Amino acid sequence: MYVEIKQSPELSGEVSLYGAKNAVLVIMASLLLTSGKSLLKNVPASSDVLHMITLLESLGAVISFDHETHELWVDTSSVDKWRVHPDIMKKMRASILVMGPLLARFSRADIALPGGCVIGTRPIDFHLKNFSKMGVEIQSGGAYLKTHVRQLSAKDLVLEYPSIGATENLMMAAVCAPGTTRIINAALEPEVLDLITVLQKMGAQIAIEPPATIIIKGEDALKPIEHELVVDRLEAGAFLLAAAITGGTVFLSNANKDHLAVFLLKLEEMGHLVRSGPKGTGILFKATKSPQAVSFKTAPYPGFPTDLQAPMMAIQCLAQGRSVIDETVFENRLVHIRELQKMGAQISVEGSKAMVTGVDELYGASVIASDIRASCALAIAGLAAKGTTIMTGISHWRRGYDHLEKKLASLGASIALSHSLHLTKPLSETKSAQKY
Ligand code: EPU
Repeated sequence: MYVEIKQSPELSGEVSLYGAKNAVLVIMASLLLTSGKSLLKNVPASSDVLHMITLLESLGAVISFDHETHELWVDTSSVDKWRVHPDIMKKMRASILVMGPLLARFSRADIALPGGCVIGTRPIDFHLKNFSKMGVEIQSGGAYLKTHVRQLSAKDLVLEYPSIGATENLMMAAVCAPGTTRIINAALEPEVLDLITVLQKMGAQIAIEPPATIIIKGEDALKPIEHELVVDRLEAGAFLLAAAITGGTVFLSNANKDHLAVFLLKLEEMGHLVRSGPKGTGILFKATKSPQAVSFKTAPYPGFPTDLQAPMMAIQCLAQGRSVIDETVFENRLVHIRELQKMGAQISVEGSKAMVTGVDELYGASVIASDIRASCALAIAGLAAKGTTIMTGISHWRRGYDHLEKKLASLGASIALSHSLHLTKPLSETKSAQKY
């Protein structure tokens, strides 16, 4: 299977965003804290969500997911297992997020080390060190990391880096630890705040103290919830960048401008026009025809999101001037550069920094996506590249997005998922293959 992308006209039209993948995964895990039936709304049917469904079902949850209405019902009444099979764990790093809720519910959790994208070593030491501090005993060896605790203890937990996953995992354990837990230097991304809203709906007592401390008062019983997810700022980024590279105009009807402040600032610095929607919600975007290159550095929220670094790099490849991009969150998140170079991009790398010199044209090529956001970057580059781009490695594309290709096509993009291994035109005959 591959995605075929052709040089596309200016994108134009309106699109509505799904709930955030990185919110729904952790919120699904958090439902293990309750016993009963919960409803999540605007859930994307991305393959990571389907993996999380498999994981929860393997623990005994009963789930129904309507792909048309995007409603996900999760009944956790009959959850009776605390061991996650390595085959499930290895498919998705976010599997680690069931550790906190399982410890809270069963005082034990056996998990294998998680898998996920190839964007660095991605240790889980912040999770484990702080679980130990809360009294959890951790034994490694064999296929599983075996953890158990007599009684979770409320503690002051300090994160040396505001890790999203560690903040979420510890918070979900702490909601059932008697006393007051404080997570200092916590991550406060919109997806973390959405989890906090959900935990509060369940009955948990959680407050945020500036600059970045989450205070949790442990509760005994938490109840099932109904919740509409925060919208996906990364899906929003994909549409804005696709419109930018094709010179188009789009309206994202339910996007939240505040969740993308630094990213939108950089788009404006490039010369693009960004406005709020008519009633204050939504983002109206109109691309400039002569984009200027901008430099940026990824950082925890509210800084420039690492998950938009690769897609933003794709549009720098055709901007006027030179852009310096510094990836500070992950140590190996520049793998997409090799693929962009195949398309004619001029990029050099020094350590964590990529130097992009804008070129006049990109050319379609055969490229491989190495992680979710790399797949987005390559698709965006493909929309402006002359000829046809064939992207493989699309398990990543499907992990992060729910049929993004169909939504892009509805705005005029020439992009489609192909199930056939037969290419309409051999790559050796395309202009890109002649050039590279
Ligand atoms: N880190 C450690 N030790 C830990 C945990 C993290 O050293 O115990 C390091 C990581 O290696 C990384 C940095 O801390 O260098 C930040 O990692 P974080 O824990 O914040 O990331 P995560 O929770 O594993 C989530 C998203 C990622 C997103 C990152 C950063 C989910 C399910 N995943 O991962 O999403 O890139 O935060 O914003 O929420 C994606 O959507 O494409 C994606 C990879």
